[in-house]
Amino acid sequence: MATVLAIETSCDETAVAVVNNRKVESSVITSQIPVHRQYGGVVPEVASREHLETINGAIAIALEEAKLDWKQIDGIAATCAPGLVGALLVGLTAAKTLAMLYDKPFLGVHHLEGHIYATYLSEPTLEPPFLSLLVSGGHTSLIYVKECGIYETLGQTRDDAAGEAFDKVARLLELGYPGGPAIDQLAVQGNPQAFTLPEGKVSLPTGGYHRYDTSFSGLKTAVLRLVQQLEKDDLPIPVADVAASFQETVARVLTKRAIACALDNKLSTIAVGGGVAANSGLRKHLQQASLEHNLRVLFPPMKFCTDNAAMIGCCAAEHLSLGHTSPLTLGVQSRLPLTSVMALYRH
Ligand code: KG4
Ligand code: ZN
Repeated sequence: MATVLAIETSCDETAVAVVNNRKVESSVITSQIPVHRQYGGVVPEVASREHLETINGAIAIALEEAKLDWKQIDGIAATCAPGLVGALLVGLTAAKTLAMLYDKPFLGVHHLEGHIYATYLSEPTLEPPFLSLLVSGGHTSLIYVKECGIYETLGQTRDDAAGEAFDKVARLLELGYPGGPAIDQLAVQGNPQAFTLPEGKVSLPTGGYHRYDTSFSGLKTAVLRLVQQLEKDDLPIPVADVAASFQETVARVLTKRAIACALDNKLSTIAVGGGVAANSGLRKHLQQASLEHNLRVLFPPMKFCTDNAAMIGCCAAEHLSLGHTSPLTLGVQSRLPLTSVMALYRH
């Protein structure tokens, strides 16, 4: 059992949480979306500055809401990779400083391992092995979760991540930033069968298609061509129908790949993580398909799908209870494969 104060600043949310194993004692999430919206996406320098201004207040509130003092905290954690270097540095430096000041173990956490752990917050009894479908703004992967820190990538996108595709298509349809929630809301009013869009199959050199890998860049281009053609023909753009058809295609593709991967690898549980796990189309498709194939599909609580510190704390608490801690010399990294998680710890 370990109680951890965790910090997440890898992108555009300044988040701090106190987590006791798989139970959230407090979770503060300050989103920078209103600041970045005017630029149509995250501006890294602006993100770092906003984290700096918000972090101290967020730490104080998280501790106060957990009704704990520093004596009751067993470890201090922060996301150290992957993400925006300047943004990560703010959270990591804060965590190391607190660890030194209060003489606590320090843990650097891999952001994607955090997204995997978000599912434990709604399913505390879940144990590996299971399949994780990670769908965020920067990643889309199918991960074989073997045990804490031990992962194997079975499938991934060859180009854009699912969230990135949502954001790009939303920009094209002038729906604003972030695109995922905007498309999700609008899709409810549209016809998902209105347009047939390509599924982004990945060819194999030996013939046929990859069973688990995806490509979203062709789908994004197909939406662009569709919009351009409608404009050329002087026709109104049925934005809700385009949004619904796009979302339907992404949900169908991800569901097909995840189900095939789970069945092939004899994994009976699929845990979905990352911002796109909040998508209503994906939730509906996966729930339906998992029923048909007698599989269990799990989603994190809605508020812990997108970036938050509770998932980082949950992940750190497990590493800490296994005796894993990070050296204070640990730095931030913009990229780090999930398969290298154990390099972050002395164990
Ligand atoms: O996990 P996350 O907060 O940050 C990263 O680690 O990237 O994911 C953010 C991504 C964005 O691309 C956003 O558009 C997408 O998740 N997203 C959604 C939804 N909510 C957030 N995509 C589709 N439907 C949603 N409801
Ligand atoms: Zn994330």
